[in-house]
Amino acid sequence: MEHDPLWYKDAIIYELHVKAFFDGTGDGIGDFQGLIEKLDYLQDLGINCIWLLPFYQSPLKDDGYDISDYRTILPDYGTMKDFKRFVREAHKRDIRVLIELVINHTSDQHLWFQEARQSKKSKKRKFYVWTDEPANKNKAARIIFMDSESSNWAWDPVSKQYYWHRFFSHQPDLNYDNPIVRRTMLNVLTYWLNTGVDGFRLDAVPYLFEREGTNCENLPETHEYLKDLRRSLDKKYNHKVLLAEANQWPKDVCSYFGEGDECHMAFHFPLMPRIFMGLRKEDSTPIIEIMGQTPEIPENCQWAIFLRNHDELTLEMVTEDERDFMYSEYAQHPKAKLNLGIRHRLAPLINKGRRQLELLHSILFTMPGSPIIYYGDELGMGDNVYLGDRNGVRTPMQWTGDRNAGFSKADTAQLYAPLVVDPVYGYQAINVEAQKRTPTSLLNWMKKFISIRKKYKAFGRGSLKFVKTSNPKILCYLREYEDETLLIANNLSRYVQPAELDLRQFKNRLPMELVGGVCFPKIGDLPYFLTFSPHAFYWFQLMKVEEPGEIAAEAVEKAAQAVHVSTKISGTTGRRKKKRATQREIKTKANLSSRHKSG
Ligand code: BGC
Repeated sequence: MEHDPLWYKDAIIYELHVKAFFDGTGDGIGDFQGLIEKLDYLQDLGINCIWLLPFYQSPLKDDGYDISDYRTILPDYGTMKDFKRFVREAHKRDIRVLIELVINHTSDQHLWFQEARQSKKSKKRKFYVWTDEPANKNKAARIIFMDSESSNWAWDPVSKQYYWHRFFSHQPDLNYDNPIVRRTMLNVLTYWLNTGVDGFRLDAVPYLFEREGTNCENLPETHEYLKDLRRSLDKKYNHKVLLAEANQWPKDVCSYFGEGDECHMAFHFPLMPRIFMGLRKEDSTPIIEIMGQTPEIPENCQWAIFLRNHDELTLEMVTEDERDFMYSEYAQHPKAKLNLGIRHRLAPLINKGRRQLELLHSILFTMPGSPIIYYGDELGMGDNVYLGDRNGVRTPMQWTGDRNAGFSKADTAQLYAPLVVDPVYGYQAINVEAQKRTPTSLLNWMKKFISIRKKYKAFGRGSLKFVKTSNPKILCYLREYEDETLLIANNLSRYVQPAELDLRQFKNRLPMELVGGVCFPKIGDLPYFLTFSPHAFYWFQLMKVEEPGEIAAEAVEKAAQAVHVSTKISGTTGRRKKKRATQREIKTKANLSSRHKSG
């Protein structure tokens, strides 16, 4: 990835909180020292980019999204020296680092706000947005944290005026109409770029400006400012990335790409809940429809796609009926709902169903965009809804079945959060050590599929075309890039399913399944017939067969590599023998299938 300006198109991103990953100093809180020790684990998993949640000085009332000093690292997590060493060590392993730029608001503990509230004449006063009469101001702006806030204005008893905030009332919004704020935040960006990081997640980016009579989201002024940020980035630095956190409908999110001159990446928020809807409705329509509403994006841009993250599973980008459906299917626990979302990790959402977990990752790894894995989800970690706010999905990483899950040597009572200890998801049942030595574990499955995904550029860069099928329970699409044509077919149903695919345009191609390298019958004139076991999926490459009866050399090579991956994981010996046997098997199957008229 080193010299590729478009590296983020092939990224497999791992999202983590330094406090939750590994405690290297034994004080019960994860830190950069610990994270460095665990980089080999991440490299082995196969990810090539880390997205770090906020690690700055903060009173931690919103887990660090309430920053009180943009240039200081919270001492609990380490020093600037530790941070820079972490970035260097990650780079040594070909892992890029994205950090958070929380530009919309600060903590009310930030010196800027403290100064601002002391005197209306202070220069910092204009860093924030104030009013005497909140009742009629910016009324059309929605309240995001609706479970804890009743207004976007909060009373400041010190300066006796109301200030504007889109999130918690302890997070006053910065005033982007003030050119000094705009310049200051640009300097913050430069400051962190100089530490060697590869880019930023732009937190809460739609809300930078306020304009009366609008909903104060996605305003033209915001886009102008982002273009400025991008210009400064491109002027001085190479290959750095801006990732927009804009929880908006596809058309509005796309505006954050500009003409390829704004953000490089943006989260596809509307896709995520529709993957879960598709699964429970056993119907590919929600996914196909939302992708149909998603405009083409500029060549140098990329989606960031995800199943879960550190927040509640947000249901802002669905209709009311769809939200009701999602709550009834996925929020059975009385405490599961939070704001407009569901505070569960991935595995508990689907009751630990292994086939469903694999299917969801099949979709995540093959839809257009760079996939994001939330720490612990590669193990199927559980959550604790009793911890309040979103803390239940932010518990310590489970490394072993030993004391404190191998996360920390501190007294258990000293941990920053309780471990998950229930019999189903507790650390004795779910941990890295146990899964490493179990060939069939979810962790080893993830490793295998990440490695397969990384072999085909079409996953990160290819076009998307849905394939007509006779069965709406089958979500089937093509990913095409240069000479790679991949065909993905996912069974969203809990039952076995047949499907006929319209693959006429690929007549005479040979579908080679990417995991085992097994070739399926050649595509003919009739609809291509596949059967699926419950929640099963296929990843195929549609190979061109130059001469009848001959398998393409490339197919043999890729298949041999695939076998190598699975052999390495299961730890069996006799690799070469197995590889030769598979090559023989492929040839035989190809010969057979070239004679076979499909359908
Ligand atoms: C983050 C949340 C945070 C909020 C306010 C969101 O975009 O993902 O975790 O609470 O911004 O900063």
